[in-house]
Amino acid sequence: VEKRELLYEGKTKQVFATDNQNFRIFAFKDEATAFNGLKKGKISGKGVINNKISSILMRVLEREGVPTHFVKEISDREQIVKAVSIMPIEVLVRNVAAGTLSKRLGLPEGAKLSSTVYEYCYKNNDLGDPLINTSHVVALGLATEEELKLMLKIAGKINDVLSACLKKINVDLIDFKLEFGKTIDGTIIVADEITPDTCRFWDSVTRSKLDIDRFRKDLGGVEEAYNEIFNRLQSL
Ligand SMILES: Nc1ncnc2c1ncn2[C@@H]1O[C@H](COP(=O)(O)OP(=O)(O)O)[C@@H](O)[C@H]1O
Ligand SMILES: [Mg+2]
Repeated sequence: VEKRELLYEGKTKQVFATDNQNFRIFAFKDEATAFNGLKKGKISGKGVINNKISSILMRVLEREGVPTHFVKEISDREQIVKAVSIMPIEVLVRNVAAGTLSKRLGLPEGAKLSSTVYEYCYKNNDLGDPLINTSHVVALGLATEEELKLMLKIAGKINDVLSACLKKINVDLIDFKLEFGKTIDGTIIVADEITPDTCRFWDSVTRSKLDIDRFRKDLGGVEEAYNEIFNRLQSL
């Protein structure tokens, strides 16, 4: 697979065409954003680390039978992925209250949820990715009810697989965001990335944050946190 033209310059990744229409090349950037792009910055070395972390976690998922877009790491910052058309829905999975859920429902950060919470957001930057429900998804034609059901089933499995895997390295999976895409033959697979940019990871013992919240909240030690997650994953 050979790299061709830049198709899309995102907030944290570049997407390149390849000589094969079934594949794209992702290049992970050091740029970081928060609060729907309102806060911008750079986390030195993040692109390299996130490329590696997403590759490891997608491989774990594949091994457990979860279909993903991941194909192969090809350099420090780059990986080959299957080309998909992205579903305009983000799926959020939450095990512990944090972030917008805490704010919206007045739950203290760190409160354990008695069962997993699933949320959907409409992927629309201009609107700030608003929270929607099943009837919005169907009424707006963002996905069919069956497709949404499948996405939820996959999200639940990912939660089980990743929570168990991270437990072994003393990391609690607080919550995470998934994107899904449709391949040319219509199959729904996990796309985008699974990294400290898209997950909340807390140390199981100290409950210290090992993710993008360190950047959002100016907690310091951002690079160290991303490196810590990568190092622990490598020990698996
Ligand atoms: N397998 C894939 N094929 C094509 N596009 C993808 C795939 N996986 C993710 N994408 C899209 O590529 C872009 C990745 O760049 P990113 O920096 O995350 O963009 P954004 O600023 O839109 O979040 C996103 O728009 C994402 O939805
Ligand atoms: Mg993105």
